[in-house]
Amino acid sequence: MIKVNENFLKLKSSYLFSEIAKRVKKFQEQNPNVSIIKMGIGDVTLPLPPACIKAMHCAIDEMADTSTFKGYGPEQGYLFLREKIAKFDFQKNNIDIEPDEIFISDGAKCDTGNFQELFSQTIKVAVPDPVYPVYVDTNVMAGRTGEFKNGQYKNLFYLSSTKQNNYLPDLPNQKVDLIYLCFPNNPTGATIDRNTLQKWVDFALENKALILFDAAYEAFIQEPNIPHSIFEIPNAKKVAVEFRSFSKTAGFTGTRCAFTVVPKECVAYTENGKPVSLHSLWLRRQSTKFNGVSYPVQRAAEAVYSPEGKTEVKQNITYYLNNAKLIKNTIQNLGFHCVGGENSPYIWIECKQNSWDFFDFLLEKAGIVCTPGEGFGKCGEGYIRLSAFNSKENVEEAMQRIKNIL
Ligand code: MLT
Repeated sequence: MIKVNENFLKLKSSYLFSEIAKRVKKFQEQNPNVSIIKMGIGDVTLPLPPACIKAMHCAIDEMADTSTFKGYGPEQGYLFLREKIAKFDFQKNNIDIEPDEIFISDGAKCDTGNFQELFSQTIKVAVPDPVYPVYVDTNVMAGRTGEFKNGQYKNLFYLSSTKQNNYLPDLPNQKVDLIYLCFPNNPTGATIDRNTLQKWVDFALENKALILFDAAYEAFIQEPNIPHSIFEIPNAKKVAVEFRSFSKTAGFTGTRCAFTVVPKECVAYTENGKPVSLHSLWLRRQSTKFNGVSYPVQRAAEAVYSPEGKTEVKQNITYYLNNAKLIKNTIQNLGFHCVGGENSPYIWIECKQNSWDFFDFLLEKAGIVCTPGEGFGKCGEGYIRLSAFNSKENVEEAMQRIKNIL
């Protein structure tokens, strides 16, 4: 008899964004004349920057010619891309990251979800609350948690991020081994300053813990005191792995390209306390389970670092941040408490009622899709998230509709 992995049965039956899509589809079928404005999942709407398109076209032409055709690429990704990332995302800012420490992948979702495979089942895991559901669900699948009760899984350590602590969790009051941090935060849009991030790095050093730092939204940072990378913090290379993505930065959600930085000095320990290189383990894992990102896509990602690419990416980010500003101003003027939207495409809004009820209210009365905060965890209840990834026209229309009903 084939037996199921019972850990999967602890999960909610569908992933948050699949559940939303299902509900929206049903509503649209029942109300075919309503024009729906989607501000739920953070999916970009602007086309790829022209520099990326041009590079991708050239790469496709190379694939059409025997003399330039490419088969399997290098396991960690093409050196041309890893060199650009190391130079422009790190070394230019005096952060010592080498191309060899960078692993190209098809998404930060996959990498943040897969990285936990490198660790024992008995480690103690800390996750923010509210949280990007992937961090939690992948640890549930791996069997590190107990049952789901009162909005939380047993055996997970939740780092509450609430209005009371300005959406910046306190350090754990007990020993934990693996800590997920995401800044600028999804879903709250909150940011962390260098001094506070230093405290997390110090905690990890003291406890021989590891920080998985999700920086998928770093391109939205506008203020100089906010770190773009955890590796700006002294000694972070010993205790942190960083995830970045071209999805939100350059509109690659449908194109797929991201990268993970695993510093050479980063280790986990055997039962006997012997250090093991995480770089070697991740390389072993990726070369076994992953065959890389296509050549044309890696060429398109490389173009993000060209002078034209940089300008075009910046324009797109500014466009979304202008949307975010409009959303935040409108919501605040209506008297709601909200955060985010300044260094982030997300606006986290206190709705002071059941978040799925508010989701239904916005959908039914205004044809607007949001993400209910409860989907991000217990501390998300009473909140909704609006995404600024949309056209300016749609955002203006959505804000008008919201003003009409609130
Ligand atoms: C979100 O809306 O939270 C993101 O789009 C999810 C993701 O990037 O996977």
